[in-house]
Amino acid sequence: MKILVVGTGAREHALVRALSLDPAVTALHAAPGNPGIGALATLHAVDQLDGAAVAALATSLDADLVVVGPEAPLVAGVADAVRAVGIPVFGPSAAGARLEGSKAFAKEVMAAAGVPTAEPRVATTIEEAAAGLDAFGAPYVVKDDGLAAGKGVVVTHDRAEALAHAQACLAKPGGRLVVEDYLDGPEISLFVLSDGVDVVPLVPAQDFKRALDGDEGPNTGGMGAYSPLPWAPADLVDEVVERVARPTIAEMARRGTPFSGVLYVGLALTSSGLKVVEFNARFGDPETQVVLARLETPLAAVLLATATGTLGTLPPLRWRDDAAVTVVIASGGYPGAVRSGDPITGTEDADALPGVHVLHAGTALRLNAAGDDDDAIDGAHLVSAGGRVLSVVGVGPDLAAARAAAYAGVHQIDLPLSHYRSDIAAAVADLPLV
Ligand code: GLY
Repeated sequence: MKILVVGTGAREHALVRALSLDPAVTALHAAPGNPGIGALATLHAVDQLDGAAVAALATSLDADLVVVGPEAPLVAGVADAVRAVGIPVFGPSAAGARLEGSKAFAKEVMAAAGVPTAEPRVATTIEEAAAGLDAFGAPYVVKDDGLAAGKGVVVTHDRAEALAHAQACLAKPGGRLVVEDYLDGPEISLFVLSDGVDVVPLVPAQDFKRALDGDEGPNTGGMGAYSPLPWAPADLVDEVVERVARPTIAEMARRGTPFSGVLYVGLALTSSGLKVVEFNARFGDPETQVVLARLETPLAAVLLATATGTLGTLPPLRWRDDAAVTVVIASGGYPGAVRSGDPITGTEDADALPGVHVLHAGTALRLNAAGDDDDAIDGAHLVSAGGRVLSVVGVGPDLAAARAAAYAGVHQIDLPLSHYRSDIAAAVADLPLV
């Protein structure tokens, strides 16, 4: 099977890595990819937001499947453009991706489908936003209605900070936002594959969204993750499938916009039961890095069955008994303005450790100075090129071993002024896997 993966992050590197281990995959391509992906796939310098260009590339490669990783191309209709040239695509249409592209639309679908979630107030003026904040009280939750690269949500006790974020959301063209009640309780990410009719859940993971240890600091795209969740209720996945995924997929079909791809269900286990925090229309990053590290079933046929409407014939997925932990190494300044161009060393040493693999996100290659060959790839140096730079994954027989492996990998890597959380999965490391 010839597969083209669209995207540039550690999530796409995790997808390409899993596909590279699948004997059914005969050729792997990525657009535009990153240096880590380039070690496993042929890279193509194509704009990932340009549907016509991605479709033309997929046609020229005679691809059997295109996998669109990030939300921005999905919302821009890249999957539609590829489907239009007759190539199966893993990823929803632009209409389906509205579940992520508009928080207000997602809430409308949840309401129609009877999905448990926090009551929203949609605001298009600062007065409406302020009224929403005062109606719900602290902690205040303000969500940009549109895509915001992981920076659209502010949760704070500070009303002025909540209003300032509301103002920033409203300042964008067509700006609107959602204010909602705070959902207490631990958060879980569950990815559910759907071909528009059938649904197949993956295993749950937990993400660490705040920048600093102890869940302090600003929200980020995600600083680490682990799976499995030994503390989660045994019937969690079934409950999410029955109360959230099936009704949502049915509602999208009823509207004439069937959702095909992966529905990312972000949940809170609140004191009043399970509630949806958010939907995304793609795999989560960094949760995918740990979920795919545990998947034993070869990935290509799973993605193809999703893309071709044949999930109902897919044998049950098989999972390793192992646990997986990932720790994100971020550039200095992240999630604010970030440094870039700093040298990265030690990734190969980390990769060589047992149970460790390093996934690239914000990395680039810079031509070497003569005689300087640390972490060189084809005579070029690895440097930072974004906020989240690397995702170091550790796998082991339990969470303590997986965590130890991930941090052993992190400690091999040097990137000036970078930072990472030291408490990923710390609170659960001693829980036995069930
Ligand atoms: N880890 C959060 C996200 O992918 O949106």
